[in-house]
Parts: sequence; structure tokens; C-alpha cells
Amino acid sequence: GTTIPIAAEKAQPDREQPSKLDECRRCELWQHATQAVGGIGPDHAQIMLVGEQPGDQEDLSGQPFIGPAGQLLDRVFAQAEVDRQGVYITNAVKHFKWEPRGKRRLHKTPAQKEIEACHYWLEKEIATRKPKVIVAMGATALKSVLQKGNVTLRDSLGQPVRHGDAWVVTIYHPSYVLRVPDEATKHEAFAVMVEGLRVAQSLLE
Ligand code: URA
Repeated sequence: GTTIPIAAEKAQPDREQPSKLDECRRCELWQHATQAVGGIGPDHAQIMLVGEQPGDQEDLSGQPFIGPAGQLLDRVFAQAEVDRQGVYITNAVKHFKWEPRGKRRLHKTPAQKEIEACHYWLEKEIATRKPKVIVAMGATALKSVLQKGNVTLRDSLGQPVRHGDAWVVTIYHPSYVLRVPDEATKHEAFAVMVEGLRVAQSLLE
């Protein structure tokens, strides 16, 4: 005879391969986040910028890089003379990971297993947008983009590498620049970010 599908089974969202970002349960980070934060920017963008994970303000607003790190990024774009609106900006991890510190929510670095779980989404973003250049900001982004645990930021800075159909350019994460106490080092790190964006732009030509 005919088999009747069980309704409860059909209604179950696919835990392994969710279709909607905000329904993602591939790791536990969703539990303490306000919402998932996806990428932003034109579908046809030739440059994709990848950060680590949304921060406090991004978690509340649902948009990547609008807080302090995003403001520093604005300055990097301006100095490099690259139009931020033309770039697709996203994160390696889509939910904010934090711990309470008084009234504040303090950023916590995502674990390798969370980076791996969320790679599912980054992979989709890369596959559908096919950027010519991926700019990885910081170690988390670099690990996720290259799918390697053993790459170091220091060895990768300023050296574009081929990855699939794209170039990967590695720069510092803006939060690192914000954190550096020493002014000279801060300036240098900022300059590395600017130069990286210029390199990314030049790879399109
Ligand atoms: N830091 C990130 O890595 N991403 C954001 O969206 C904000 C801060």
C-alpha cells in the first residue's frame, strides 16, 4: 500500500543542513545570541571581507561591523580608497559568543568546533557569490576560509594565496588594531590593513 508520511517527521528542521540562518542549531551559540548575523553587500561583489563573529552591537542590530570594529573598518576603507558599499562583508561565525562581565557582554573567541560548524554558511556565501578576492581579517577568518587549523596569521599577512577560484588576502582584524596599546604598533597594524585592501583591489585589475 501507500506509505503515509509522518507529519512530525516532515516538520523537523534539518539540524545538519538548515536552510535558514536564524534557525541554525549546528552549534550551541544560538542559545545566548539575540539573532544570527548574516553578510551584507551586493551579490555581485568581487571582494568578500570575512571577520570573526558579530559583536554586542551587531548581535542587537543584526548587521555585521556596525560597532567600534566597523567604524575602524570605515577608516581603513577610506584610506585604501575602496568603496565599502561595493564589498560583501560577513563573518566566519554568525552568532555572538560572549560571557557576562557586570552589565556588559564580553566577547569570547569562538572554538574550533564552532568555526567548523559555521563554515557551512560561509561556504554557501562563497559558492553563491563567487568573489574574486576574499579578505580574511584575523586568525578565525583565515582558518575558516582556508579550512586549515595550522595556518598562522603572521605567515599569511600580505601574501595573497590562491584558494579555489579566489585569491585570499590576510589582514589583521580591526579589533586587534583597536586593542593594541602602543601607538606605533597600532599605526603599523592599521597600515597593514589598508595595504591589504589595496592589494585585494589590485587583484581585480
Ligand atoms: N567583529 C567582527 O569580527 N565582526 C563583526 O561583525 C563585528 C565585530
